[in-house]
Amino acid sequence: MLKDNHNRPINYLRLAVTDRCNLRCFYCMPEHGIDWLSRTELMSYEEMLRICALLVRNGISKIRITGGEPFVRKDIMPFIAALSQLRELQELTMTTNGVLTAPHVPELKKYGIRSVNLSIDTLDRERFFAITRRDELPAVLHTLEELLRHGIEVKLNAVVMEGRNTQDILPLVQLTKDLPVSVRFIEEMPFNGSGELHATGWDHVRILNTIRDGYAGVQKVADPPYSTSYNYHIPGHKGNVGIIAAYTRSFCGTCNRIRITPQGMLKTCLYDNGVLNIRDLMRGGSADEEVMEHVLHALVHRARNGHEAEKSAVHGSMAAIGG
Ligand code: GTP
Ligand code: 5AD
Ligand code: SF4
Repeated sequence: MLKDNHNRPINYLRLAVTDRCNLRCFYCMPEHGIDWLSRTELMSYEEMLRICALLVRNGISKIRITGGEPFVRKDIMPFIAALSQLRELQELTMTTNGVLTAPHVPELKKYGIRSVNLSIDTLDRERFFAITRRDELPAVLHTLEELLRHGIEVKLNAVVMEGRNTQDILPLVQLTKDLPVSVRFIEEMPFNGSGELHATGWDHVRILNTIRDGYAGVQKVADPPYSTSYNYHIPGHKGNVGIIAAYTRSFCGTCNRIRITPQGMLKTCLYDNGVLNIRDLMRGGSADEEVMEHVLHALVHRARNGHEAEKSAVHGSMAAIGG
């Protein structure tokens, strides 16, 4: 079992496989002028597989593939297939925007992917376009159908934004009536891609009050260990509702996750800028034992509460971090 210097177990890796995305959510990245990473800057599939296998042998039991948008990276499926073969890996999962995902769902099922997180901030086509700058809502809804049809558990992520989609909160909650999905409302974090900080006004209390206005019977349910969301249920509904207080609340106390960026930087905290370049170690010829020594060293210097120190800092884009 991997542990950090504050005795927190580390068993969850979020691996961002690309910085690129086929949407342009305004809270995440600008429409133009993005400096994408070059092919050689990205870790290759071989490099990613090597570091994943090493970490899994050393105690990582859950891997979430993120981006950017994972399906934008060419030939992602054979990589997922290879990861699914790692024997000690208990859970392999993804966060996707759902635009290119639907045709891959049968294969995801075949590789044992039990759950997928799907980003969907609105059920209205025009608002979807206004938020993401692309007219792709039908494709995302098709992915949702396909996932459910194949028995893959789905968490829907909706970032709550004043003036953009607050009217979608109740319709999204209503989805849980007939669909066995978890709809999670996320406080917007000030990673707006343009370098400007903006107050949002929609914290978890306000989101919950809005849900209560529509569904007076909403009940708190137990949160799974390490859950990012506070979870709720409306009697008679098939699904659940969650609120992720990504901005106002710290997950640091029970944080079990590390991140690897597309260019191979290890981040031991969402708010650090990367503490170790694993790609360069591997390209420099380091053996597995040496790479692992560096990772362990990084974990010994992990911040206790990066959220408090850094939450007001302005970061470039969530897409480059992988959420
Ligand atoms: P599971 O618990 O495995 O479902 O993952 P998750 O909820 O962390 O994953 P997902 O990729 O769906 O992320 C949901 C939201 O939580 C995104 O807005 C993330 O940026 C945010 N998030 C994930 N990890 C952290 C974290 O360590 N701190 C903060 N503040 N937000 C996080
Ligand atoms: N604030 C909150 N959530 C964000 N995401 C991307 N950018 C932000 C932000 N600025 C979410 C996406 C996706 C998840 C991985 O991160 O909506 O669901
Ligand atoms: Fe793409 Fe996700 Fe960023 Fe939207 S939030 S632009 S879907 S990476």
